[in-house]
Amino acid sequence: MIEVEGLTKVYGGSRGVRALDNVSFTVPERSVFGFLGPNGAGKTTTIRILATVLDPTAGTVRIGGHDTRREPMEVKERIGLMPDEVLYYPTLTGLQHLVYYASFYGIRRAEAKKRARELLERMGLGDAEGKKVKAYSHGMRKRLSLAQCLFHDPPVMIMDEPASGLDPLGMRSYRDLIRKLANDGKTIFLSSHLLSEVEQLCERVGIIDHGKIVAVDTIANLSSRMYAGAPVVLHVTATGITDVVLEALANIPGVTGVQATPTGVDVTTQPGTDASSDVSRALVLAGAELRGMTKEQRSLEYLFLALTKGGGA
Ligand SMILES: Nc1ncnc2c1ncn2[C@@H]1O[C@H](COP(=O)(O)OP(=O)(O)OP(=O)(O)O)[C@@H](O)[C@H]1O
Ligand SMILES: [Mg+2]
Repeated sequence: MIEVEGLTKVYGGSRGVRALDNVSFTVPERSVFGFLGPNGAGKTTTIRILATVLDPTAGTVRIGGHDTRREPMEVKERIGLMPDEVLYYPTLTGLQHLVYYASFYGIRRAEAKKRARELLERMGLGDAEGKKVKAYSHGMRKRLSLAQCLFHDPPVMIMDEPASGLDPLGMRSYRDLIRKLANDGKTIFLSSHLLSEVEQLCERVGIIDHGKIVAVDTIANLSSRMYAGAPVVLHVTATGITDVVLEALANIPGVTGVQATPTGVDVTTQPGTDASSDVSRALVLAGAELRGMTKEQRSLEYLFLALTKGGGA
């Protein structure tokens, strides 16, 4: 549904900032795609190009088969954009903002008003429809922007950090809404640096860093790739950790590191080995008392930090 090929964006002429460098990925129809990256990675730049707001320096974007540069109107009809910041006229109320927005789509005023009220109600902004947008809180503006994104019921939704700054309740209703829209068959592209959000909502993710794609895959594949190459750490809670115990642990085949901790010992093993039963046996034989053991969870967060080398721009 979304096909991005060789996308490059240089801001400010040939010696300018290379915000995107040969970015390619695809998003299948009826799926939720998470676009992850640290600050300044190029997420907003990509989104603005997808939404036809910005022209790329090189490369192509097709949405539903339509080229964003050659057929921007066809693309606009098919997408709803939720920008990172809502642009609004300070004098307009929430309701007027949506009605004004609808006029760009040639929707008749009466119909637009009805639809706007419905959406404001759905976003929990029913009571605020007559309030000026400049008096909206951050979370209220996010909801207004989501209402705008849904207004003409587009098949593709492109959202720039839709969940940033939402309170826990707002976060939950946002997640429920995204899941519902996905079930209704929408194609959803969302950017985020909240990994937990992406893990809970997206089948596939793309990770971007300094304008380059560093990974595009399913969450499941990314995690198994990570498991295959990464050492496993066993966090052992135990008393009676003596040098004899540490040495016994270090001698277990496959163990590459042993480190005493305030509550016991951390045992690092080679990728793909499960040394937990050897470790518990060695501990007990060497005279320690074992209280518990956990395997280190390697989450998407770990992968993200490893791939982006842990830093933003
Ligand atoms: N209008 C602009 N003119 C010049 N440089 C820009 C412009 N917009 C963005 N950039 C640069 O392009 C790079 C990518 O910025 P972008 O806003 O796409 O990042 P982002 O991934 O959305 O970051 P964040 O997580 O902070 O929102 C950054 O180096 C930024 O400074
Ligand atoms: Mg951004």
